Amino acid sequence: MKKLHWIPNSAAAMILVATTIFSATGFAASGEKGLAEADPRNEAYEQNHPDQYKTWKQTSESEQIEDALAEDPNMVIMWAGYGFAKDYNKARGHFFALDDVRQTLRTGGPQDEKSGPMPMACWSCKSPDVGRVIEERGEDGYFEGKWARLGSEISNPIGCADCHDTRSEAFKNGEPALAITKPYVERAFNAIDKPFEHQSRLDQQASVCAQCHVEYYFTGPTKGVKFPWDMGTRAGEMEAYYDALNFKDWTHKVSKAPMLKAQHPGYETWRDGIHGKNKVVCVDCHMPKVTKEDGTVYTDHKVGNPFDRFEDTCAQCHTQTKDQLREIVSSRKAQVLNMKLTAEKQIVAAHFEAGAAWDAGATEAEMAPILMDIRHAQWRWDYAIASHGVHMHAPEVALEELGAAVDKAADARTKLIRLLATKGITDPVEIPDISTKEKAQQALGMDMDAMNKEKQDFLKTVVPDWDKAAEKREADY
Ligand code: HEC
Ligand code: HEC
Ligand code: HEC
Ligand code: HEC
Repeated sequence: MKKLHWIPNSAAAMILVATTIFSATGFAASGEKGLAEADPRNEAYEQNHPDQYKTWKQTSESEQIEDALAEDPNMVIMWAGYGFAKDYNKARGHFFALDDVRQTLRTGGPQDEKSGPMPMACWSCKSPDVGRVIEERGEDGYFEGKWARLGSEISNPIGCADCHDTRSEAFKNGEPALAITKPYVERAFNAIDKPFEHQSRLDQQASVCAQCHVEYYFTGPTKGVKFPWDMGTRAGEMEAYYDALNFKDWTHKVSKAPMLKAQHPGYETWRDGIHGKNKVVCVDCHMPKVTKEDGTVYTDHKVGNPFDRFEDTCAQCHTQTKDQLREIVSSRKAQVLNMKLTAEKQIVAAHFEAGAAWDAGATEAEMAPILMDIRHAQWRWDYAIASHGVHMHAPEVALEELGAAVDKAADARTKLIRLLATKGITDPVEIPDISTKEKAQQALGMDMDAMNKEKQDFLKTVVPDWDKAAEKREADY
C-alpha cells in the first residue's frame, strides 16, 4: 500500500510560484475598501486562486435534491412535532447551502425579523458571512433572536473564508492557512484536548470539515451553537452529557418522549472508523491533490463523491479496483440500511404504543422510564444514520449503534406491553397507514398546504429584499 499524504516539496514550491505571480497582478485584498473582516465573497478569491475557485464552484454540479422522507416515511413519525417531519432532503453541493436553508419548510415563512420558528444559529454552517458577523457583533450579537433577523447579512454560500485565514499572507501566497472561523468550534476542540493551533496538518484538514459535519445543539439565552463533546464524542458519551443536562430538542408529538435530534455527527463517527483511526482524513478522499498538465499540483475543491475521482482518491492507497471497492461499500450500505429499517420498525411502534398508554390514562411516573428508553433508542438510531456517508466512514459504528437502538426500543416495548395490560389493553396497538410521506404527515394532522404557501410567500417577498440589501452592502467592500 502506497501512502501519499503530502505534496512533494517541489510541487508545493510550484504552487507558490504560480500563485505569487497572480497576486502580483493586482488582486485587491479585502479590507482595502472598508471591510476589516475576512471577505465572505467567494468570487473575491477567484483571481488569486483560480484552480481552487473553479473547483469549489463545481460543487454546484451536485444539484439533485433527494427527498429523504419520501424514501423512508417512518422518519416522519419519528420526528413528529419537530421540523424534520415537514421536510428533509439529503445533502448536496456546498454551493447550495444558502438556497437550501432558505427553501426548506423547517425554517418556515417569517415575514419580519421577529417571527419564524428557528433561531439565528440555523445559519451557522451555511456561510462565511457567519464568521464575519461574529467578528463584527460578537457571538451574542450574532446568535440572539430569530433566524430571519439577519437574513440580509448572510448572503454567500459555504466557501473560502469558512476554512482559510484568507487575510493571512500565507493564504495570499497560495499556502492553505487552514483556520477555524467560529469561536464555538475552537471551544469544542479545547474540550476534547485537541486545540486547533496545536493540531497536526492532517488533523487540521479533518477539523475544518468538523466545523459543520458534527453533532451540535443550541443552548443559553441566545440559543448559541455548542458541540456536546464535554464527556467525549461517542454516542453513549454524548447521550450521558445530554441526560445530565436534562436537555431535549423537542417533545415527541405522539409518545411525549423528551427527544434528542442528532445533527450530522460525520466527524465523530469517522474518528472511530478504520480510516479515522489510521489518520486518513476527509480531505484525502473528498479533496484530493491533483496534478495539472504543466506539472503543478493543487487541491481539488469540488467536495463530492470520492468514487468520481477514484484515481486521485482511493487508488492513492489501495490496490483494489474501483469495482471491488464499490462493491464492498455498497454491500455495507445495504447492511446499514437494513438495520436502520429494523430499528425504525421498533421505534415507530414504541411511539404509538406510548401514545395509546397515555390515552388509556397512564401516569407521568409510569411513563417516565419508558420515555427515556424511547429517547435513547432514537438517539442511537439518529447518531448512526444522520451523517450520510457512515456506511463508508464507519459501518461498524453504525451497526453497533443501530443494534443498541433495537435493544433500547425492545426495553420500551416490553414495559409498554405490561403497562397497557394493567390498563386493560391487550390487543396490539394499531399503527395508522404511514406507507408514504403524505400519508404519514396526514396521520399526524400536519397542514402541508398551509406550510408550503407560507414558504412560497416568504421566498417571493422577503428573500428578494434580503438579496437587494446584501448587494448594496457588498458594493462597499
Ligand atoms: C471546506 C473547506 C474549504 C473551503 C470551503 C475552501 N478550501 Fe481551500 N483548502 C482546503 C483544504 C483542506 C486544503 C488543503 C490543505 C492542505 O493541503 O493541508 C485547501 C487548500 C487551498 C489552497 C492551497 C493550495 C492548494 O491548492 O492546496 C488554496 C490557495 C485554497 N485552498 C484556496 C481556496 C479558495 C480560493 C477557496 C474558495 C473559492 C477555498 N480554498 C475554499 C479547504 C477549503
Ligand atoms: C461551513 C460549514 C461546512 C463546512 C466547513 C464543510 N461542510 Fe460539507 N456540507 C455542509 C452543508 C450545510 C452541506 C449540505 C449542503 C446542501 O445540501 O445544501 C454539506 C455537504 C457536503 C457533502 C455532500 C456533497 C454532495 O455533493 O452531495 C460532502 C461530501 C461534504 N459536505 C463534505 C465536506 C468535507 C470533506 C468538508 C471539509 C473539507 C466539508 N464538507 C466542510 C457544511 C459544511
Ligand atoms: C476513506 C475515504 C473517506 C474519508 C476519509 C471520508 N470520506 Fe466521506 N465519503 C467517502 C465516500 C466514498 C462517500 C460516498 C459513499 C457512497 O458512494 O455510498 C462518502 C460520503 C460522504 C458524505 C455523504 C455525501 C452524500 O451526498 O450522501 C459526507 C457528508 C461525507 N462523506 C463527509 C465526510 C467528512 C466530513 C469526512 C471527515 C470527517 C469524511 N467524509 C471522510 C469517503 C471518505
Ligand atoms: C490515504 C490513504 C487511504 C485512502 C485515500 C483510502 N484508504 Fe481505505 N484504507 C486505508 C488504510 C490505512 C486502511 C486500513 C488498512 C489496514 O488496516 O490494512 C484502509 C482500509 C480500507 C477498507 C477496509 C476497511 C475495513 O473495514 O476493514 C476499505 C473497504 C477501504 N479502505 C476503502 C476505501 C475507499 C473506498 C477509498 C476511497 C473512497 C479509500 N479506502 C481511500 C487507507 C486509505
